[in-house]
Amino acid sequence: MSTTTSAKQAAGVAAAALVQDGMILGFGTGTTVVFFLDALAERIRLEKIKVIGVPTSEATAKHATELGIPISTLDEHPELDLVVDGADEVDLQFRLVKGGGGALLREKIVASCGKRVVIIVGEGKMVDKLGTTFLLPVEVVPFGVQVTRTKVEAAGCQAFLRTLEDGDAFHTDNGNLVLDCKFRYGIDDPVQTHQSLSQIPGVVEVGIFLDLCHAVIEGCADGTSITHQKS
Ligand code: A5P
Repeated sequence: MSTTTSAKQAAGVAAAALVQDGMILGFGTGTTVVFFLDALAERIRLEKIKVIGVPTSEATAKHATELGIPISTLDEHPELDLVVDGADEVDLQFRLVKGGGGALLREKIVASCGKRVVIIVGEGKMVDKLGTTFLLPVEVVPFGVQVTRTKVEAAGCQAFLRTLEDGDAFHTDNGNLVLDCKFRYGIDDPVQTHQSLSQIPGVVEVGIFLDLCHAVIEGCADGTSITHQKS
């Protein structure tokens, strides 16, 4: 197992240990969340705990269902006891860049309904400055995408339309497109950048998550993990 994989697994297993019987959960998206779901399914099997989870993507819904974990919707369960999700970058103020898997819109909606949001990451995702190790994903509607892209770039970045391996445009679960935005020196002011991008017509959601994370579990390659609590 590669170091990244074992670190992600360590974070996922540690997050699964936080789940209590009867909780309504939010399930994020990504490779780290898969480890969380696998560990949670094991607890359900061994300890007979009962939980319900609201998934943030079709992929997560499929994986949870295959594992036998009951899933639901936000309309049925608008208050979530615990949301567990991954991230592409986490800064010192627990602000996040998310959307590497294209699920940022549903992830932000679900995180906003969480009494507690725990972010699980492998190594190398804690950064001094957002936008320095990962492009910022921005979900946009297909209509007028080139106009939207020009306006997004006016915020001080280069925006690349996300494509699949065959060259076709990547579509989110919501039928939208994703612009991956490169800030040459990182994102100087995440609050300002979030605000500027959010105001552009055609932008559905920005992958900067502000004030939506209560704790970060950072997995390590040796199978241990460190929990960082927001003060
Ligand atoms: C999904 O859209 C993303 O926000 C993921 O949560 C993020 O990219 C982390 O993914 P990994 O756990 O696969 O690194």
